[in-house]
Amino acid sequence: VIIEENSKPVDRIWRGKITFVMAAAGSAVGLGNMWKFPYIAGENGGGAFVLVYLACILCFGIPLLMAEIGMGRMGRSNAQNTFRILRRESGSKGPWGVVGALAIVTSYLILSFYIVVAGWCLYYLWITVNGQFNIPGQILDKSVTGGMFDNLLASPQTLIIFSVVFLLITFGIVSSGIKNGIEKTVNWMMPSLMLILVLLIGYSIRNGDFSAAVHFLFNADFHKLTLNAIIVAVGHSFFTLSLASGSMITYGSYMSAKSSVVKTSLAVAGIDTLVALTAGLTIFPLVFEHGLEPGAGPGLVFISLPLLFGDMPYGQLFGTIFFLMLFVAALTSAISLMEPTVAWLEQRFFLSRTRAALLTTLTVWLVSLGTVFSLNIWDNPMFFGKTFFDALDYLTANILMTAGGLATALFCGYCLKEHQLEQMFGGNRAVIVPFRIAMRYVVPLFVVVLAIGPI
Ligand code: PFF
Ligand code: NA
Repeated sequence: VIIEENSKPVDRIWRGKITFVMAAAGSAVGLGNMWKFPYIAGENGGGAFVLVYLACILCFGIPLLMAEIGMGRMGRSNAQNTFRILRRESGSKGPWGVVGALAIVTSYLILSFYIVVAGWCLYYLWITVNGQFNIPGQILDKSVTGGMFDNLLASPQTLIIFSVVFLLITFGIVSSGIKNGIEKTVNWMMPSLMLILVLLIGYSIRNGDFSAAVHFLFNADFHKLTLNAIIVAVGHSFFTLSLASGSMITYGSYMSAKSSVVKTSLAVAGIDTLVALTAGLTIFPLVFEHGLEPGAGPGLVFISLPLLFGDMPYGQLFGTIFFLMLFVAALTSAISLMEPTVAWLEQRFFLSRTRAALLTTLTVWLVSLGTVFSLNIWDNPMFFGKTFFDALDYLTANILMTAGGLATALFCGYCLKEHQLEQMFGGNRAVIVPFRIAMRYVVPLFVVVLAIGPI
């Protein structure tokens, strides 16, 4: 079965097969891999947590990634409308559009705090370029770099300036369109990112306590595994693969009918996992070498790595490259976080792309202030014992994404008809049969047991 490509203006199809992989991998690989994964692995004791995370990627991450990319390519619309179109085509009933609408809300909310953390990266890039970690005669220790990080969080002005700069860059790219904006950006940014990562892990292996890091990340001690750690691992599997947030459905809607959903999904999940593990293996050798605390929390990379950049040869150069890499990774993900809302506004309200992007940018900025202030003037836990930032993180990764992933699996397993799955996978029975089993039983069971069981 061939999908009509001309049902959509040609301008909205990715140029080549590789471009889609770049865009989807650009969405997946982000702060989740290089900032969040190392610090939550550190907080949750390493090995056993990493193992649960890897199991989640295999058992529901990859199947759901295939589902979303495939649905996007078939629906050729925004996330909400894709659920509606496919539901109508299947002849089944139910308000499935809500699942797509909630996914758009999820990406919107994530974007509001993502730009704040990306702002930290930009700030660190700025001070590294300016040589603040390389002042001659200065001796850096963790109290100095820790103090710098605390000062950043204590300053609403600095946080706002850098998150706004980041948001405006994202706006610039998204408003330029799929081909001229997103495609051009990811095509050179993703390969550069991989190259930088290889460079950095090489340094870490030679200069850090590599074996301690390997032991920490891969030696599973299940006594350290708490129920909360399992919930965090499940949420993170959704977050890191950009699932249940409309991004993959929206990007999939620009995918050429000639590319394979299965191969692409495997490539994207493989790259994402590899980058997360490489980031862990870059950061933890240095953490152990310098006697830092693996469970230091969100400040882990910002407090630990400057120590290294302060005393290694060419530290300023390496530091600049490292924060540049974080920035690039964050940017390609932020683009994909803005796109679901923009595509929805364009199609639903017939707004021009620029207007849709402008509206999204302005309102997301307002919401982002909640995260900014929760780091300083509102830092008392006022939302169910969490700050605004922590509550937003928990709501998106652990509630909305888990529920959305479950709903997506049930939709594909029970609503979609045989001919739709055939269209999704080019009639390949060897994929359709296991895919249906995964969507009907494996994914729902896995998600319910791991996400609800611990509660
Ligand atoms: N996958 C991104 C990361 O790991 O940083 C975060 C993300 C991007 C989540 C896009 C959701 C999304 F729609
Ligand atoms: Na990721």
